[in-house]
Amino acid sequence: MIETNRQKNKKPRSSHILYPSLHVIKFMKSLRHPKSIIIWLFLAIGLFSCPEDPCDGCVDDVIPGDYNPTAYGFQFPEWLPEFEVPSDNPMTVEGIALGRKLFYETDLSGDRNISCASCHQLENSFSDNIPFSLAGNGQMTSRGAMALVNLGFNESNLLWDGGVQTLEEQVLQAVEDPLMLDGDWIDVLDRLTIDGEYQQMFRAAFGVERKSEISKDHVAKAIAQFERTLVSYNSRYDQVVWENDGWFTNEEERGRALFFKEDDQQVEHPGCSHCHIAKYFTDHSFRNNGIDGPPSLSDFEDPGRGGVTGVYFDNGKFRVPTLRNIEVTAPYMHDGRFETLEEVLDHYSAGGHDLENEDPNIRPFTLTETQKQDMISFLKTLTDTVFLNKTDFKNPF
Ligand code: HEC
Ligand code: HEC
Repeated sequence: MIETNRQKNKKPRSSHILYPSLHVIKFMKSLRHPKSIIIWLFLAIGLFSCPEDPCDGCVDDVIPGDYNPTAYGFQFPEWLPEFEVPSDNPMTVEGIALGRKLFYETDLSGDRNISCASCHQLENSFSDNIPFSLAGNGQMTSRGAMALVNLGFNESNLLWDGGVQTLEEQVLQAVEDPLMLDGDWIDVLDRLTIDGEYQQMFRAAFGVERKSEISKDHVAKAIAQFERTLVSYNSRYDQVVWENDGWFTNEEERGRALFFKEDDQQVEHPGCSHCHIAKYFTDHSFRNNGIDGPPSLSDFEDPGRGGVTGVYFDNGKFRVPTLRNIEVTAPYMHDGRFETLEEVLDHYSAGGHDLENEDPNIRPFTLTETQKQDMISFLKTLTDTVFLNKTDFKNPF
């Protein structure tokens, strides 16, 4: 029975080859006919009409699956204002998950040897513990890796010199920069879009319908979304000062009084809070805090802000960095020149080099050994162990 059915369905082998070929030959002949102009027209329209969608009908390119993004809501304590997120990159649970994975993805680097997280390590508040970091091309970065914390509260003027304006833009640059990931966007996108899990994640985060639509902007947006979640508000300082929960020790309390500026008449005072203002412990400005004393403002090894603005008076100014999690981000300053907080305090108490653009708040003061330790104890209250151990920030691989 089964045999006969099979026999019945079977066409003679030759007809498979013959029938289509005969049709093709007939069709080709008909094209020589004067009336065939219409067919030629259709062919031409078919070939040239939609160059913007070369992959129409490429089933392989389609990413199946749903697109129902879940809006992400920050759960900030009352005392912390929410920050604005760029309107073209709203935060979603799916976007953040993708960004977190990409942040730890070595495929972003040219030699697949490093990721963002190689230089921005969670246990160091997303900085590292060396003055300069090893870049993708095997050379050292020209400045120290910055801690990534509370970035959303000040999204312009990123980097030590303020040369980059948005987190998205920073990703686009860091991937290509030889002294960062040393990658090539075309290669990076090839590697990512071939991976089924990434395809799904890009679809879920951005509604991308085709693999060929996944772009570097999607990568940048996802990583920026993840970076905006890196908010610190759980340090002992926050608990004592904002949450009214617990006390400072005597040491810490004495250190606090030294850190925050007293009235301006009192010259002999560290006055750190002139620039490292609570609650972010930075005022986001660019200042010369007196670490160098070159013969003139043109002689800074790294002009810092001046390199971006081209203004002579800006040479040697750098962004005031946050002091949150400062305990775990040594070595300190843009070139990691100080290994310990003791050394940092020794620098400030010396009062700088009297350069013409040195900030007026840099002036000599004396600290006893106990006062130094008091200040360091206070600075350590800014360590946010909840942040440093947060599962959501860890390597998802
Ligand atoms: C090779 C080490 C290295 C890698 C890899 C690296 N960074 Fe950085 N990052 C740095 C250094 C160094 C700086 C400071 C650069 C400067 O000021 O010129 C920095 C600065 C930043 C800043 C500015 C922070 C601020 O407060 O202004 C952000 C954001 C950042 N990196 C995110 C990333 C992301 C995202 C990636 C991956 C796409 C990445 N970095 C890869 C070393 C690195
Ligand atoms: C005039 C403004 C100003 C004052 C006052 C000031 N700082 Fe700074 N601070 C800066 C700037 C600017 C930098 C970055 C300089 C650089 O990297 O070249 C910095 C860097 C630091 C760093 C290194 C941070 C890092 O991530 O590497 C620490 C720690 C620090 N300051 C602590 C203090 C303490 C403690 C005081 C008080 C004794 C103080 N600062 C007073 C402006 C100031």
